[in-house]
Amino acid sequence: MWNFSLWPEQAATIAPKVDALVIFEIGVSAFFIVMFGLVILGFCIHYRRGNPVDRSNPPVNSRIGEVLWFVVAIAICGTMYAWATRLFFEEYTPTPGASRIDVVGKQWMWYVQHPEGRSETNELHVPIGRPFKLNMTSQDVVHSFFIPSFRLKQDVVPGMYTGYSFTPSKVGVYDLFCAEYCGTNHSRMIGHVYVMEPEDYEAWLAEKGGGPSQADEGERLFVRNHCAGCHRGSQIVHAPRLEGVYGKPVPIQVGSEVHFEIADETYIRDSILMPKDKVVAGYEPIMPSFKDQISEQDLLKIIAYIKSLANREVSQ
Ligand code: CUA
Repeated sequence: MWNFSLWPEQAATIAPKVDALVIFEIGVSAFFIVMFGLVILGFCIHYRRGNPVDRSNPPVNSRIGEVLWFVVAIAICGTMYAWATRLFFEEYTPTPGASRIDVVGKQWMWYVQHPEGRSETNELHVPIGRPFKLNMTSQDVVHSFFIPSFRLKQDVVPGMYTGYSFTPSKVGVYDLFCAEYCGTNHSRMIGHVYVMEPEDYEAWLAEKGGGPSQADEGERLFVRNHCAGCHRGSQIVHAPRLEGVYGKPVPIQVGSEVHFEIADETYIRDSILMPKDKVVAGYEPIMPSFKDQISEQDLLKIIAYIKSLANREVSQ
């Protein structure tokens, strides 16, 4: 039987909006292709050799024609630009209160970590109607996390965090692809996205006994990697406390000057892997680098722990 559809299903709130823009753009292109095609065809027939028509004084310019095509072209392109930009910001601005899901790409699989503790590979389970924000990185080369039914695709890049936000809008199973050639088994770096009813999602989360949350796991790693020794009020080593740091500006010593940087995921990650690059004003550059010692998954957990300290006061 025929099972051929031009469009993937629309399974996220943004999908119909993206489709509307694409249809508009295809419509505009089709209109001009047909219009110019017909004009060319008409002239070909009208001015064919042997047809006795007036060929004297061909028009060489038309002020009204020039103004018209200029204004119409700007209006159409401007509309496409403004429309697409609005959608772009909608995809990349997380909805307030969106739950964060961490994604690590590596040759050749996807590792997905839910904040409540459960993790999965090559699958992504999400409940319908809840806004999410993906926080993604790669352990090796550039990958791309592509969910056609959500109309979302974003490169996953080693050494930095990228992501997008979405709200699933239709229960079902959808394709997940790596959309950036990343080596021999790139074509096998695929999986499924499961959009579930909220109750089913809760049941799914609890299936493996819950387990520690991402932040609790992070705290365990924080202690195991000896971060706690210095960053938790040691009398010997003078290191910045991490309570209340996340999301706030941090003073960085650059030569003789101090400038401020927001302590986001990327800042914390850089501080763990390249601690001497951005030293907090008033502290010595004594922290060792943890480059190649902590996996991307564990880094995300430690960051989740530091993030969970965001609203905590410094205890004396
Ligand atoms: Cu990963 Cu292609």
